[in-house]
Amino acid sequence: MDQQQLIDDLTKRLQAKELISGVISQPRSKTESAPKIKWKPVELKGIYHIQMEYQYGQTMKHENITLTDIEHKVATLTDEYRQFQLVFAGESLHIQLTKKKKVSVSSSPNDQQSASLSHNRKKNYVLDPDEVHPFLVRLGVQTKDGKIKSQKQDKFKQINRFIEFAEDALGYLPTDRPLKIIDFGSGKSYLTFALYHYLHEMKGYEVQLTGLDLKKEVIEHCAEIARDLNYTGLTFQVGDISDYNASQEIDMVVTLHACDVATDMALGRAVKWGAKVILSVPCCQHELFTQLDSPALNVMNKHGLIKERFASLATDSIRAQLLDLVGYDTQLVEFVNLENTPKNILIRAYYTGKNPDAQTVEETKAFLQFLNAKPFLANELKEELKEVLS
Ligand SMILES: C[S@@+](CC[C@H](N)C(=O)[O-])C[C@H]1O[C@@H](n2cnc3c(N)ncnc32)[C@H](O)[C@@H]1O
Repeated sequence: MDQQQLIDDLTKRLQAKELISGVISQPRSKTESAPKIKWKPVELKGIYHIQMEYQYGQTMKHENITLTDIEHKVATLTDEYRQFQLVFAGESLHIQLTKKKKVSVSSSPNDQQSASLSHNRKKNYVLDPDEVHPFLVRLGVQTKDGKIKSQKQDKFKQINRFIEFAEDALGYLPTDRPLKIIDFGSGKSYLTFALYHYLHEMKGYEVQLTGLDLKKEVIEHCAEIARDLNYTGLTFQVGDISDYNASQEIDMVVTLHACDVATDMALGRAVKWGAKVILSVPCCQHELFTQLDSPALNVMNKHGLIKERFASLATDSIRAQLLDLVGYDTQLVEFVNLENTPKNILIRAYYTGKNPDAQTVEETKAFLQFLNAKPFLANELKEELKEVLS
């Protein structure tokens, strides 16, 4: 193995969140580098990082590296250090680099599960993958004998992760009456069923959960499954988000990969209802892409790929900002790892009712002006934002 192969292999394992712990030692420069660096995975503000603890005798320094930056870091460290002892889930590696950076690796199996931060291990799933869940069987995620189908593994991880976010949000929801929840753009409704199953069947909450989608046949099929399973608090409706009017107060609005501006429609509805919690994982984003024509952005926009990513990131940043302006405390957090789905940003907004501070107002105005863009959500919320952004 050469150094580049080592970098590729370690990057892949680290990005798959398989790391349990590591110790890096034998620096090439004894004067410039820390004698030892310890690695461990940590979650900071909802984002998975590898923490590097540089040990200089009694003194320590910490650095947290995101999975996006990890390849560069591994490349640097394999230049600077000669010994890597790494424990990954199921396999421990002892890596030695020679003076000329030839690599030798010895590997031994271990019994260790992934660190608790990793979401791809059985014991960390909210829905036990070894148990037969009739709704997952009916939805074609699990076989009758309880095996998660290989092509549904990513979806299974996504719904488990989403449930974790819902669990974290429970403290913001009322406890004195049934919870009213809407899943907009529910599609085949894996998440809708899983959320109902978790909240009602597993946790005993009274829940009235509605899945709404444009697709009549899919919705009818879901309604039939809910009836068969006697999920009495779970209903499905055919309809367009923008036309949907709730007959009662809605506590939580969720979306998972609702297409393009369907996410904005859902956020707009949630705000108008004063929903206490919004959990929304956006999908493809085309709307801002067609509007970004500010000359100051040419260096980015001339590359289609960059423009697309920037439009998407700008859209989510604006969504978060606008939600803050109308009384929410909003964060953009990593949903699942990038390997699972590139659509991996989750908008988490808790209603506080607080008036926005002057800085949030000013920076939002400046950003919208700089982009020369009129985002869909700003239009959806024009009444609510009228005084704030005037
Ligand atoms: C990519 S699918 C995601 C489905 C599901 N949430 C999931 O994660 O498996 C997006 C869904 O949003 C629905 N959708 C898009 N625009 C909509 C709208 N305006 N009103 C209701 N549903 C909409 C589509 O019909 C589609 O089923």
